[in-house]
Amino acid sequence: MRLAVLASGEGSNFQALLDARAAGHLDVDFVGVFCNRPAARVLQRARDAGVPAIGLDPRHSATRAGFDERLFSRIEDVQPDLIVCAGYMRLIGADQVDRYDGRMLNIHPSLLPAHPGLDTHARAISAGDRRHGASVHYVIPALDAGPVIAQAQVPVLPGDDADALARRVRSREHPLLVACVRLVSQGRIAKHGSAVRFDGRTLAEPLQLDHDEELHSP
Ligand code: GRF
Repeated sequence: MRLAVLASGEGSNFQALLDARAAGHLDVDFVGVFCNRPAARVLQRARDAGVPAIGLDPRHSATRAGFDERLFSRIEDVQPDLIVCAGYMRLIGADQVDRYDGRMLNIHPSLLPAHPGLDTHARAISAGDRRHGASVHYVIPALDAGPVIAQAQVPVLPGDDADALARRVRSREHPLLVACVRLVSQGRIAKHGSAVRFDGRTLAEPLQLDHDEELHSP
């Protein structure tokens, strides 16, 4: 499977995918890392791993749609089977999303449908949530609203601030993303309309990441 990654910053989720592949746990080819911040660390991680690294600055495009067209024409050049948004902090226009329907995943740091958008950790604490976590979902034009494949849950502990909670979530994001990409690359997960199919059966609820780092039906 030819995998393209979109990211904006640190790239720890991308690194988790790289490490899983190096360890023989993920059978994918990284065909490019695409980033809207040319100085982001994720691009250096890609270069260090010998993966084509493309940083494009949105300020060089007159419009949002123009930037998306520029970005996605570079993505099209590498002919990905799957695009993974791993910390890509920019909205993608519906034209591009629709072209990759069923072939684009996003990892979001909340238990969707709770807390779409930004500042999810602070919002989970303010809401008094007892559980928080991360979701991997198919991308659709509406923000953080596509069918959810799987989630990893963590407790919200007394005294947590947003940073402490973010660190707890981040440590589960990595195995969650690896496990989801593995199942998709094996053809075991697919989008069917607004539903997710796992081994040919429609999921009534997202899969859950267990302590063995595998995904199970709840
Ligand atoms: C992750 O928490 C991701 O869920 C969020 O942005 C963060 C990116 O982290 N949307 P990294 O760049 O993968 O380290």
